[in-house]
Amino acid sequence: DWTMRAFREEEIAKIRQQVGKGKVICGLSGGVDSAVAAVLIHEAIGDQLTCVFVDHGLLRLDEAKTVVDLFRHHYNIPLVHVDASKQFLGELEGVTDPETKRKTIGRLFIEVFEQEAKKIGGADFLAQGTLYPDVIESVSFTGGPSVTIKSHHNVGGLPERMNMKLVEPLRELFKDEVRKLGRELGLPEIFVGRHPFPGPGLAIRCPGEITKDKLDILRKADAVYIDQIRKHGLYDEIWQAFAVLLPVKTVGVMGDGRTYDYVVGLRAVTSTDGMTADFYPFDMKFLGETATRIINEVKGVNRVVYDVTSKPPGTIEWE
Ligand code: XMP
Repeated sequence: DWTMRAFREEEIAKIRQQVGKGKVICGLSGGVDSAVAAVLIHEAIGDQLTCVFVDHGLLRLDEAKTVVDLFRHHYNIPLVHVDASKQFLGELEGVTDPETKRKTIGRLFIEVFEQEAKKIGGADFLAQGTLYPDVIESVSFTGGPSVTIKSHHNVGGLPERMNMKLVEPLRELFKDEVRKLGRELGLPEIFVGRHPFPGPGLAIRCPGEITKDKLDILRKADAVYIDQIRKHGLYDEIWQAFAVLLPVKTVGVMGDGRTYDYVVGLRAVTSTDGMTADFYPFDMKFLGETATRIINEVKGVNRVVYDVTSKPPGTIEWE
């Protein structure tokens, strides 16, 4: 892609000019944006960049491994992998309010990130995979003037506290352009094409109290759902698809026995920037088959429902 090749060269020059001989630290989330930002910056300034991946215990199945393999082994980019899951899950114990969840995770993320940044001797710059829609959403959120629908999780506040400047090479791009740039930079297709994943992770897909057991059930259900979508060749038609674990148990019957287990909600939407979205019209056969697979393969689930709400009035995530 010609435009992306030109963009890549221009941005590399800009990054070199901005950073000089300074040190840059970049938080990876497992998502496409931060990965593309990191690879681009690494190309510009090499090992002046250190990436930090904070595993908050709210990631999808095998996510940490995927990210670590990609950066350490595929790209050879220095990566600090912090397993902070005990700390995060500990502080989230008993928390049910969505905004409190988001704020707790945001605060812990900054604390952990700051500790790690200190360990490597600090940095002059903080790199972020901020996109154009993020820039707009933080100015006027979907709910109109001065109404915060959801506190977005990022490392806001940290740059000032640590006296760091921001490097945001993707600020002018939309998601589809970031993907093009990722391909241009040689990121594997399976990674580039991934659906967006929110900073607070599975915490906001687990309404009510978050426990390790619930997260494990959710991770498995989500993996089966995504596997179904990939097998049916639908993954790339969908902006985002994921499972939600409802804080409700219902009665079912399996074999000769009565069951009393959790309900899984399935979400899938089409969108161009996440600001508005339509629910994806799966056919009933696909949904039935997926429900059967989830119930058979995931212990602790005996009922599956499909979310047919568009945005607005719903948001994409459930919290
Ligand atoms: P909502 O749920 O507000 O989500 O319709 C719109 C898009 O934003 C993602 N999202 C987040 N991304 N930090 C992020 O990095 C967050 O706190 C956050 N909350 C929602 C969501 O997955 C969807 O793509």
